[in-house]
Amino acid sequence: MNIRTYNPKKDKQAVHRIWQEVHWIKAKEDEKKMMDIFLSEGNKLIAELNGEPECMVVSIPGTFRYLEEDLQLSVVAAVTTSRIARKQGLAKRLTAKLVAADVLNGAQVSTLGMFEQGFYDKLGFGSGGYEHWISFDPAYLNIKQQPRVPRRITKDDWELVHKSLLNRYRGHGACNLLPASFTRADMGLTEHGFGLGYCDGANGELTHFFWGSAKDEPGPYTIITIAYQNGQQFLELMGLMKTLNDQVRLVEMREPAGIQLQDLLSQPMKQRQVTKKSKFENQNKAGAYWQVRICDLEGCLSKTHLHRETVRFNLELYDPIELILEPTEPWRGITGNYIITLGSNSRVETGKKPDLPTLKSTVGAFTRLWLGVRPATGLSVTDELAGPDFLLKALDDVLCLPDAKPDWDF
Ligand SMILES: CC(C)(COP(=O)(O)OP(=O)(O)OC[C@H]1O[C@@H](n2cnc3c(N)ncnc32)[C@H](O)[C@@H]1OP(=O)(O)O)[C@@H](O)C(=O)NCCC(=O)NCCS
Repeated sequence: MNIRTYNPKKDKQAVHRIWQEVHWIKAKEDEKKMMDIFLSEGNKLIAELNGEPECMVVSIPGTFRYLEEDLQLSVVAAVTTSRIARKQGLAKRLTAKLVAADVLNGAQVSTLGMFEQGFYDKLGFGSGGYEHWISFDPAYLNIKQQPRVPRRITKDDWELVHKSLLNRYRGHGACNLLPASFTRADMGLTEHGFGLGYCDGANGELTHFFWGSAKDEPGPYTIITIAYQNGQQFLELMGLMKTLNDQVRLVEMREPAGIQLQDLLSQPMKQRQVTKKSKFENQNKAGAYWQVRICDLEGCLSKTHLHRETVRFNLELYDPIELILEPTEPWRGITGNYIITLGSNSRVETGKKPDLPTLKSTVGAFTRLWLGVRPATGLSVTDELAGPDFLLKALDDVLCLPDAKPDWDF
């Protein structure tokens, strides 16, 4: 087996075949074109079997918001193995190699969407919090604000949309994926794609919009992306969704950061009961489907500003990615003994101090703790994280953070 970087001249047809085999694209020329656009930027590794690419992994550079700070991010945006090359460890090895290469290029955190829990845990990733997907009848939106006439957004508006995404309101955990080609391919691959928005920027920039998929005449409509810079703009977009209610019976969307969408719905309990098991069921589905890991502990902690009592402790950290990476790789994870200070100026030193309490953790569990996915006391029950009770309680207090939401599908 030979691992190397992707070469479009040589490998294009073989990687089209991989994506067709996993049903990410169809045999249509426009979908293959969108795949090529997606592959035009970022880091790409392939593994050859019998001289042909049979596994491909792709990462995209981005930024990751931790409270008010931005960290350098690597988004593992595609992991695919062809039908003939499964269960040979190709996806695992290539993904580990890709993460390691991105760390050498400055990535401080890495994130991905998982196909199942467990697989990427072996590479040090830990699960993010639940995302809520809310389905509702737009007629029941209790928005008073009358929206203005919007602008249509089409697949050709990818540049405008990308800029708008980069400039949107971002809360804790928000990700920005930097190459515009990603947005272009993503919009290009949306079936029945449609969007509406407003260009209120000083130079006509798109300030707020939603983009989604409008399947049948009465819906459901799926809002894939909603972006805005302030609360008024968000309410205008919700008001716009309401104007579709004479025709559309169901809209589904992910709950935005900091918003409880049910606040905007009239009679949510009644609607849930009367639509139960119908095609237009009003419901709230929760799922944890993205994962994240710290790659550069020092870099992450230097941008961690917590305005509570300072907590100091020894950290015995274990990073399982070292089992997958070759011994010759220059970066082999962050296993080690550290002295951690969490507070307004957090920091990390290497070593161990006998007078400090000790936390033992995998990198996945520690990342979840740092990000505030769950408190230390909870993680000590369900994840690989252990320490004395008084330390866990102190960590619960110092790491009391808003829900982390990537707010960008990848
Ligand atoms: C997911 C996928 C990339 C895996 O590719 P692969 O090259 O066969 O994966 P690997 O050989 O590296 O790893 C397979 C191993 O992981 C294990 N594994 C799979 N899911 C797991 C889980 N949830 N938890 C723990 N281990 C898991 C398998 O049991 C297997 O172990 P074994 O070889 O000891 O039996 C491939 O099935 C695929 O392309 N699927 C379709 C596209 C997709 O969903 N991609 C992932 C996007 S996040």
